[in-house]
Amino acid sequence: MERTLVLIKPDGVRRNIVGEVISRIERKGLNIVAMDMRTLDGDTAKSHYEEHASRPFFGALVEFITGGPLVAMVVEGERAIEAFRALAGATDPVTAAPGTVRGDFALEVQQNIVHGSDSTYSAEREIKLFFPDL
Ligand code: PPS
Repeated sequence: MERTLVLIKPDGVRRNIVGEVISRIERKGLNIVAMDMRTLDGDTAKSHYEEHASRPFFGALVEFITGGPLVAMVVEGERAIEAFRALAGATDPVTAAPGTVRGDFALEVQQNIVHGSDSTYSAEREIKLFFPDL
C-alpha cells in the first residue's frame, strides 16, 4: 500500500468539480484516508512547491494556489502515486489525454485542477506538510 497527497486546486473548487474528481479517485479503487478544505498561507505554499523556487513561474504559482480554498487529501492504494498521476493526466492540459482530469477539464498549465505527489519522497514530505498528525 502506498499513500500520495492530492490537491484539488482553487480552480477545481471554483468550477464545482470537487465531486467529479473525488468520484474518479473512488471509482478507480483508491481510498481517501484524510481530507479537508482549506486556504493555504504563503509559507505553506512556498514550502509545498519548494523544488520550483527558482523557476520563473514560482511567484504566480504561489499566488494562484493561495488564491482561494482548495481540497487536500491523502489517497491510499496499490501504487497510489502512479495511479493518481495517470488519472490526473499530463501537467499541460492541452496535451493531457482525454479521459484524464486535466484532459477533460483544463487548458492551462497553471490552472490544471489537481496536484498529485510525483515520488515516494515527495509524497512523504507533502503528507507531513498538509497532515502532520497522520
Ligand atoms: S514541468 O512543466 O515539468 O515543470 O511540470 P511540473 O514539474 O509537473 O510542474 C510543477 C508545477 O508547476 C506548475 N507549472 C506552472 N505554473 C505556472 N506556469 C507555468 N509555466 C508552469 N509550469 C508548470 C504545474 O501546474 C505544476 O503544479 P503541480 O501542482 O505540481 O501539478
